[in-house]
Amino acid sequence: MGKVHVFDHPLIQHKLSYIREEKTGTKEFRELVDEVGMLMAYEVTRDLELQDVEIDTPVTKMTAKRLAGKKMAVVPILRAGLGMTDGVLKLIPAARVGHIGLYRDPETLQPVEYFAKLPQDIEERDFIVVDPMLATGGSAIEAINSLKKRGATKIRFMCLIAAPEGVELLKEAHPDVDIYIAALDEKLNDHGYIVPGLGDAGDRLFGTK
Ligand code: PRP
Ligand code: URA
Repeated sequence: MGKVHVFDHPLIQHKLSYIREEKTGTKEFRELVDEVGMLMAYEVTRDLELQDVEIDTPVTKMTAKRLAGKKMAVVPILRAGLGMTDGVLKLIPAARVGHIGLYRDPETLQPVEYFAKLPQDIEERDFIVVDPMLATGGSAIEAINSLKKRGATKIRFMCLIAAPEGVELLKEAHPDVDIYIAALDEKLNDHGYIVPGLGDAGDRLFGTK
């Protein structure tokens, strides 16, 4: 069963409080989402494999540790996932980036895929799917379905804020996927928005309405 990790790091909680606030404008919102994306990536990559390498320090030879050449890919769910992507890439700059475009049908709240472009060597890569919001769970489930259909086997999901309903459905649909969350909120409202949440992540990131 995939694990659910909820971050309690003070820096993440501090920044998240500004991200949530209604009066935070687009520029600051974007910067903060980027920073939290980077901080979360530090934890999400904690179990990456290391290998021994022989190096010379100015003083002596030693056996040091380096990443075992693991091939990584970050996959933002469009649009709002884009806001977390650069933060993750600051820590793993060699990662490939795939894109999956989904929107929620406003009537049914069901996700509809409108775009998918992924790296070619899918089977060999470790994927981190990023999206600020896990609400009903539909978008994350569908994005991961889409990745698996194309051959991905090792997938993590990372978001800023999740509703308990979405976490349960995602765990059920993809029990092999570890879920990383900065805050687990109270519930969903009748429109499928997370309460207390942060509002519409895409609109707040891109200044649309
Ligand atoms: C938001 C958010 C998630 C989705 C979460 O995207 O970025 O992708 O909703 O909701 P769910 O868990 O109920 O599926 P939205 O559909 O608003 O599209 P956007 O990013 O283009 O604004
Ligand atoms: N999508 C958002 O952008 N916000 C929510 O609260 C739920 C889904």
